[in-house]
Amino acid sequence: MILVTGGAGFIGGNFVLDWLAEHGEPVVNLDKLTYAGNLNTLAAVQSDTRHHFVRGDIGDPALVAQLLAEYQPRAVLNFAAESHVDRSIHGPGEFIQTNVVGTFNLLEAVRGYWHELPAGRKAAFRFLHVSTDEVYGTLSAGDPPFAETNRYEPNSPYSASKAASDHLVRAWHHTYGLPVLTTNCSNNYGPYHFPEKLIPLVILNALTGKPLPVYGDGQQIRDWLYVKDHCSAIRRVLEAGRVGQTYNVGGWNEKANLDVVQTICGLLDELKPRDDGQLYRTQITFVTDRPGHDRRYAIDARKLEQELGWKPAETFESGIRKTVQWYLDNQPWVQNVVNGAYREWTDKQYPLQHA
Ligand code: NAD
Ligand code: TYD
Repeated sequence: MILVTGGAGFIGGNFVLDWLAEHGEPVVNLDKLTYAGNLNTLAAVQSDTRHHFVRGDIGDPALVAQLLAEYQPRAVLNFAAESHVDRSIHGPGEFIQTNVVGTFNLLEAVRGYWHELPAGRKAAFRFLHVSTDEVYGTLSAGDPPFAETNRYEPNSPYSASKAASDHLVRAWHHTYGLPVLTTNCSNNYGPYHFPEKLIPLVILNALTGKPLPVYGDGQQIRDWLYVKDHCSAIRRVLEAGRVGQTYNVGGWNEKANLDVVQTICGLLDELKPRDDGQLYRTQITFVTDRPGHDRRYAIDARKLEQELGWKPAETFESGIRKTVQWYLDNQPWVQNVVNGAYREWTDKQYPLQHA
């Protein structure tokens, strides 16, 4: 049994689906179901007896302690977070609450549980913290990609809150001996991505005839990784990562935002041409830049490859094609997000649980 937090979100949801399909070990899935949590993502495992969903907050130590005592997991994987940079600029409070205070409370509950485990299970236990490359700050054009040894220089409220959580996880290992692992991954894309982030937003806006908003000059660079490759990296780190280590995860896919948007437009022109015969790229609109916008992220994933033999299965070209096709094939999932129906259902079915 493993306990996953944030498993109704984009990456956590993909992780749970892939885990149950490929691994088979039962999962307790603790998710608060904020606006970013979507149970429709987990529809395929809704009646799977290996999947135990609990609506609750990682910052509720009594609830977490109760779940740990009840399910006795061999590992806790922490995906739960506020994750959107633009939202963190408009309202940083929730980011501090969940990403910093929530991670602290989670660590304390897990430490209490782990401390009482018998020796063998105690040694085998893992706390895997899912983090981001944004903790390293921004790169200039000629800089080498981020290695695990780079200084932390976060620039947004989001990345600062994630950096703080990484520091807490590190300290809980060094001070208390909690067997932790941390992964710092680059930008993900793929199925079930909430359409506030660049790639799903552009696909959705293109199909509904809306402008495709490109911040500033569109030359900011992100290093894109297909979400299922991120999930396979996490599985590998959980299986064989060295305790106390951090692993950077990336796909060697640096792309300027404008190129990403143009690639999506080209794929849509091919797969679902506009009724009026125009090209989707005519919808591209340059808009005011994000304040403090990091110019470039790039990941050096050699440690993960050399130590643990992990490599991504998708190139950006193969992954983005699959992604665009997935959004075309899964319009009901998208529509439920757009019209808010997924929220009404959530509130009716799952009141927030407390211990
Ligand atoms: P997401 O916003 O799609 O999902 C977050 C999930 O966490 C949601 O289901 C939400 O309901 C849940 N959640 C939020 N606050 C909670 C709380 N207090 N208690 C319990 N559950 C809570 O995020 P994502 O894109 O899936 O990211 C998952 C993790 O991966 C995050 O920690 C993020 O920092 C990290 N990450 C994301 C990316 C990316 O490109 N999306 C890249 C690298 C790392
Ligand atoms: P985003 O998906 O929000 O991820 P992050 O900020 O964590 O990298 O944004 C990816 C890039 O795309 C980032 O440089 C900001 C840019 N962007 C736009 O140009 N337009 C948009 O509408 C959005 C949401 C993002």
